Parts: sequence; C-alpha cells; structure tokens
Amino acid sequence: MQQTALTDKNSVPRNAINVAVIPMRSPFRYAGGKTWLIPYIRLWLNRKRAALKELIEPFAGGGIVSLTAVFEKLVSRATMVERDEDVAAVWQIILSNDAKWLANRITSFEVTEESVKAIFEKESVSTRERAFVAILKNRVNRGGILAPGAGLLKFGENGKGLLSRWYPQTLKKRILAIALVKDKIDFIEGDGLKVMEENANREDVMFFIDPPYTKAGRRLYKYSEIDHPAIFELAARCAGDFLMTYDDASEIRSLAKRCNFEVKTVAMKSTHHEKKTELLIGRTLDWLQSFV
Ligand SMILES: C[S@@+](CC[C@H](N)C(=O)[O-])C[C@H]1O[C@@H](n2cnc3c(N)ncnc32)[C@H](O)[C@@H]1O
Repeated sequence: MQQTALTDKNSVPRNAINVAVIPMRSPFRYAGGKTWLIPYIRLWLNRKRAALKELIEPFAGGGIVSLTAVFEKLVSRATMVERDEDVAAVWQIILSNDAKWLANRITSFEVTEESVKAIFEKESVSTRERAFVAILKNRVNRGGILAPGAGLLKFGENGKGLLSRWYPQTLKKRILAIALVKDKIDFIEGDGLKVMEENANREDVMFFIDPPYTKAGRRLYKYSEIDHPAIFELAARCAGDFLMTYDDASEIRSLAKRCNFEVKTVAMKSTHHEKKTELLIGRTLDWLQSFV
C-alpha cells in the first residue's frame, strides 16, 4: 500500500487503498459502493466484542459491508435494508432457496444487443425474473446505475462494450458463496430509518449508515430523497455504535456538529478516477488511530 502524507488533523491517513486486494463479494457493481472503505470497516468492527454483535446496514445497496462482515466473521450476523424493489429482489432471491436458479439464469443468458433490449422491454412479473433483470441492468447500464433513465453501455465492436462488465461465471460464484452464509444474513425490503428506529434501544447492534449522497443521489438511485436530519437524530439516540459515511457537504458537517459527532475526511477515488473526499462520522472515531 502506498502511503501519502496527512493533510490535516481531521483527515484520516491517506493510505491509498488498493481496492484490487479487497475480496469482491457482491453481485452488484454499485454506484456509491463502499468496497474502498473495507479496510476501515474491518478496523471498526474488529474491536472487542464486535464479533458477538449484529451489524445493521439500513441503506444496503450492493451490501459489500454486510457481506464482508459476515464472511470474515467480524459480526455474528447482519441485517441489510434496502428500499429499491429491484435491488431488493436480488437479495430476496439470493437469500432464499432460489440462489441456484439466479446463478443458472445468469450463466445461460447470452448477452447480445437484441437479447438485452428484449428483456428490458418486458415487464418482470416474478421476483426471480425481476432479480435477474436487475443484475443484467447493473452490468450493462453505464456506471451500473439502476435509476430510471440510466443509459446502456455502447454495444461496441462485436458487442465488447455491452459485454465488458458481464462476467457470468464470477457472478455465479459470488451468488452461490453468499447463499452458503444466508442463515447469517437477514434482508428487509423497506425503509432503513424505520429499521434504525426499531433497533435504537439495542446495545448489541452496530449500524453502518451509508445513505444516498446529498448531491449525486438523484442521478444514481431511484430512491434518493432522504431526511438527513432524521438520520442524525436517530443515530444520536441509538444505544449501539454506528459509523456513517457521507459526501463532504456543509449541511452534513453542520448536522454532525450539532450532534457532537466526530468527523474525519477520507480520500478516495471516484469511478472516474477523480480524487474526492468523503466524510466518516461517528460518536467517536478513536479507533481510526490504528490506521496511522
Ligand atoms: C450510497 S447507497 C449504499 C451503497 C452501499 N453501501 C454499497 O456499498 O453498495 C444508498 C442506498 O440507499 C438506498 N435507499 C434510499 N432510501 C432508502 C431508504 N429510505 N431505506 C433504505 N434504503 C434506501 C438506495 O436505493 C441506495 O441503494
């Protein structure tokens, strides 16, 4: 890992994290996905007693944090919550007894411009088919974006554009691997805020809170409107520990200040390889010291 200098006392050391060495466990390539944050997540969850606790991810998306936590036995179990019906269909199918069906549907589908368009024109009636279409969209839409209006990757020479993110065997492996630990993962289709509220008094849970970005959310997600002050108010009331991530917006910094939360910036690279900073927010972030 390459080490670069600290910028100020409120920044996390900018170890340029090599995402290539982090196991990719999600079937999604998720806009705003947190694979790059995994080394910090391990540190956060690796503290005493966390292994006995339950992780709740109220805005699960591609679920990389819950998956990593369960696969690496950093927590005893995880609960993922997601409002998007298409993303939810994928989790419901993988965590039910239908993971094999989904894996086989993926490996037996031949991606061509015609086959993809034909699938997208049909309305999916079953949860199974809805899950398959969501995975296909996530792989062939530009940036993996599932929000309405997202464009397809260009077909390209011999279909290479459209096929550039379609790895059926890899997807099959990931889906079947998740199915093996399904007894340790609960999935709830619904409102993450409601699930936080229901679990606010529990000391045996840890919340990883990664809501839609305040700025880019509308372009990236079907459900991007969220009551940010309510998230902060709930986090302040939670008996369990939490870690939040946000885009660096002044509205978010002032909400954190009002709640007396600690804020650190962490450098990351966007999918377009631009450098940007995101905020880590917690009641205390002293565990980050061991990153130095
Ligand atoms: C920043 S993304 C989460 C990305 C995730 N951490 C990952 O690594 O893939 C935010 C997610 O919150 C979902 N969402 C938006 N409003 C929600 C709500 N009220 N309850 C649950 N999920 C919601 C969006 O659909 C989106 O998938």
